[in-house]
Formats: sequence, structure tokens, C-alpha cells
Amino acid sequence: MKNELFSIAGKVAVITGAGGVLGGSIAQHFIQQGAKVVAIDIRQEQLDSRVAELKKYGTDVIGIIGNVLDISSLEKVAEEIVNQWGRIDILLNIAGGNMPGATLEPEQHFYDMDIACWEKVTNLNMNGTVYPSMVFGKVMAKQGKGCIINVSSMAAYSAITRVPGYSAAKTAVANFTQWLATEMALKYGDGIRVNAIAPGFFIGDQNRRVLINPDGSLTERSVKVLAKTPMKRFGDINELNGSVHFLCSEAASFITGAMLPIDGGFSAFSGV
Ligand SMILES: NC(=O)c1ccc[n+]([C@@H]2O[C@H](COP(=O)([O-])OP(=O)(O)OC[C@H]3O[C@@H](n4cnc5c(N)ncnc54)[C@H](O)[C@@H]3O)[C@@H](O)[C@H]2O)c1
Repeated sequence: MKNELFSIAGKVAVITGAGGVLGGSIAQHFIQQGAKVVAIDIRQEQLDSRVAELKKYGTDVIGIIGNVLDISSLEKVAEEIVNQWGRIDILLNIAGGNMPGATLEPEQHFYDMDIACWEKVTNLNMNGTVYPSMVFGKVMAKQGKGCIINVSSMAAYSAITRVPGYSAAKTAVANFTQWLATEMALKYGDGIRVNAIAPGFFIGDQNRRVLINPDGSLTERSVKVLAKTPMKRFGDINELNGSVHFLCSEAASFITGAMLPIDGGFSAFSGV
């Protein structure tokens, strides 16, 4: 008999931020594993090219333009999915990230921080996780079954310089993961689980400028990152797929409220 313990085949998975680097990689993995993927992104062009790419690996893909900060847009998306596939098994809250204006320049003072950028970055990373969890979590509550995965950050374990808004919001995501896991289990039983991943350092569009110099060499910041990473390298974006897959499978049926670091040991190491 085939071992179903780790299977995600046939599950309906909603992936926010699927037009981006991390969401795209996970969406491709999920479709290759036989899941039905609903790719959501705010950018039409990125979403279209992602859906075209995903369709090379399987036919059960829907791309829907949606804004994680707009509850009524999310409600329409949820309705569309339930009409089409009858249920929502998995929500991956991946939309988020830092923004250039929300990163303090090395000599910039905290009290001179751009408040508009602070508000944007905290809103996207915190509420952009909370709102979809409300809307899609409501469907899961009715089903008595579901799985939510949030994306936190190394900044939730200890301070990372220059990114106050991103750090505060990703720490809120870590706390919200525990809160929602508790709420769901107490109110709806053990069928609904909420967990988070905390990726270490992966070179992506959002952080390339602070980690890699224009000539391709490492910045002073990335030298510090690698010095505190026992594995002495950055992560490959594909290295997140297996952990998310595991947390969504029956193999993780007694895991809720947990945050899994995927960081080459960064969070474990004091640096000494
Ligand atoms: N790349 C890393 O090293 C790293 C490390 C830790 C955490 N993360 C987190 O992983 C997640 C994805 O990061 P990424 O590197 O793939 O970023 P990315 O910028 O490539 O992808 C983010 C996607 O979210 C979409 N998006 C933005 N605002 C949205 C909104 N309001 N509604 C719907 N979609 C919206 C964007 O259009 C984009 O396609 C983020 O939460 C980020 O903070 C990334």
C-alpha cells in the first residue's frame, strides 16, 4: 500500500504572493506533488506568467488577482474557489516582504524613519497574513479541517539591524501563528493547524541590494550573515519546499503553533 502520510495530492492549496520568488517555487512543488493550486497575487503580469509556468506541471491551477489587504477581494476569491473545487485545505500566506524605503540607510537615525514606509511594511506583513487567515480560515472552520502556514523571519528571533518595520511585523506573524493555532484548536478541534516557517537568508529581489554588491561580491552585511550561519552559505529557494510540504501533510498532524527555522543554523548559533 502506498504511504499517504506525507501526501498532499488532491489538496486545494491557496498560495498568496504566488507571483513572487518563494511563492512560485512552493507553488511549483505543490503542483508537482498533485495538489490543486490557487495562485493569488496583486500583480497581473507576474501572476499570468506564473500560472503559464505552473500549467507545464499540472492542469489543476487557477490564478486569481487578489489583494491580501482587501477583505472583500479575498471573500470573492474564497467564493470562487469553493464554487470550483468545493473546499480549501491549505492556505500559504506568502505575500509579504521588505520595501526599500523601509530599510534604514546605515547612517540614518531611527527617529528620521519614513513613517509611510513603516506603515506600508507592517501592514503588508502583519495584516497581509491576518486578513487571508480570517477569510480562508472561516471556510476551514466550517469544514473542521485545514492547514495554514505563515512566513516569519530570522528577525523574529533576535534583532537584525536597519529593518525595524519588517522585524516588528514578522515578530507579530510569529506570535499570531501561536495565537491562531490555539484559537482554532480550542474552538474547532484538532483538524485545523496553523504553523509558520522562518526562512533564513535567501537571495531574492527584495534583499539582493543589501546582500550583493553591483559587482557581484558580498556586502559587509552578507559577510556578517555568513559568519553567523554554521552552514556558511545562503539558502536555495527550493530548500523551503519540503518543510512547507511536511507541515501541510498528515505527518504533521500533531504539530500546531510551531515555527520551523530554515536557516542553515543561523538562529541556533550565537556567533561565537
Ligand atoms: N527571500 C528571502 O530571503 C526571505 C526571507 C525571509 C522571509 N521571506 C518572506 O517570504 C515571503 C516571500 O518573499 P519573496 O522573496 O518570494 O518575495 P517576492 O517579492 O518575490 O514575492 C512577494 C509577492 O507578493 C505579492 N504581493 C505583494 N503585495 C501583495 C498584496 N497586497 N496582495 C497580494 N499579493 C501581494 C508581490 O506581487 C510578489 O509577487 C515574504 O513574506 C518575505 O518576507 C523571504
